[in-house]
Amino acid sequence: MATVDVYVRDTIWTYMVPIGLLSFFLLLFMTDSLKVIRQWYCSKYLTSFSELHDEMIEPIKKALFSDLNNIDSSLTDLRNKGLIRILEIGVGSGSNLKYYPQQCRLVIVDPNPHFKQYFTENVNKFPDINLERYIVSPGERLRGIASSTVDVVVTTTVLCCVENVPKVLKEIRRVLVPGGHYYFLEHVVAAHNTKRWKLQQLANWTGLWKWFHDGCVFRRIDEDIARAGFSDLDISTFTLDDDAQSSKSKLIQMISPHIVGVAIK
Ligand SMILES: C[S@@+](CC[C@H](N)C(=O)[O-])C[C@H]1O[C@@H](n2cnc3c(N)ncnc32)[C@H](O)[C@@H]1O
Repeated sequence: MATVDVYVRDTIWTYMVPIGLLSFFLLLFMTDSLKVIRQWYCSKYLTSFSELHDEMIEPIKKALFSDLNNIDSSLTDLRNKGLIRILEIGVGSGSNLKYYPQQCRLVIVDPNPHFKQYFTENVNKFPDINLERYIVSPGERLRGIASSTVDVVVTTTVLCCVENVPKVLKEIRRVLVPGGHYYFLEHVVAAHNTKRWKLQQLANWTGLWKWFHDGCVFRRIDEDIARAGFSDLDISTFTLDDDAQSSKSKLIQMISPHIVGVAIK
């Protein structure tokens, strides 16, 4: 190969490819017009990621939602019909529908409109669930949902993705009836200075994980929930089993530490 060809090839690999890649990612982070692409991509990718995650945590979710059938609505008209109203924030494709009481009224909030198609396919499998509304909006602004009108609020692996966790929790408290239940299952930041914590900090710092996982950031969500002003809080922690994960997805190991529980307004 001629010296000039080698020079051109080296210049391309040493400078142009890294600069090109860097510019590409900078553009992705900075340009809001690409939000649509990100939302579309996340709805596709996160649906299969959520399915894998869901398979691993099924027994924990089953236990979490097991007492939903024992809740009586605080709203007279619903209680007389033996119904409760559930609001799920950040529903994605609807992986929690199978845990809900068949006779319930469901309100959905999710800012990503591309999930609606997957959710609709799923909710059609549960003809007894009455879908009252599907609202495309972030959980930070539950506009159109009146205060004290919801018996149960649910978030599963959502608070990692929202812009402002305290604002979402404030809205959850606002819409819940007094004595209403907030069920949560969220992945959280790993123990300080562990290998996983370092990887998570790197992921937070580069913003790459956030971009490819619908805004997901590794956070101390347990502290936010504890500070949110609920009258009662039952919270526990668990981690996904490393052996089980490694055969399925290395990426899922990043989100191994979790919290799960119920808070009462
Ligand atoms: C990892 S998915 C989890 C989906 C579903 N909850 C599950 O457990 O399978 C995160 C969901 O949070 C939603 N989300 C992102 N930002 C949000 C926000 N600010 N308010 C409410 N939901 C949000 C996403 O659109 C997505 O549906």
